[in-house]
Amino acid sequence: MKILVINGPNINLLGLREKEIYGENSYKDLIQMIMDYCQKEKIEVEFFQSNHEGAIVDEIQKAYGVFDGIVINPAAYTHTSVAILDALKAVRIPTVEVHISDVQNREEFRKLSYVSLAAAKTIAGEGFDGYLSAIRFLQENDQQKEH
Ligand code: DQA
Repeated sequence: MKILVINGPNINLLGLREKEIYGENSYKDLIQMIMDYCQKEKIEVEFFQSNHEGAIVDEIQKAYGVFDGIVINPAAYTHTSVAILDALKAVRIPTVEVHISDVQNREEFRKLSYVSLAAAKTIAGEGFDGYLSAIRFLQENDQQKEH
């Protein structure tokens, strides 16, 4: 199975930004953790991070017919982007939305997620481990498809 992990704006600054919320570990550490898991599970994985909404839309469009699942942390675009929602709806690739922090228990404006309308599942507040929970969900989903 082939999974695309997309991260939105400021996720490249993990380890530097608001450590009390997002922790001490870097984006590179996050990639390494996911790569280790995928190697063990024999999952092909690719990563994309961008601070630009249109670039994320382009990447979702390019994923059509290539990836079996998408794990996406749209970061701030979660709460604003109809364009990312529409791209996910267009390609219909099983998608899990991930947030490192517990978005439901922060500012009011973080409670609304457009992306969740296209996601099979939303995982929030599990820290970096949320990405692995998302991949596990996609694995289970993929196995059911085969039977
Ligand atoms: C985030 C939560 C968003 O509200 C925020 O804008 C982010 C990161 C998270 O992973 O917890 O940049 O998606």
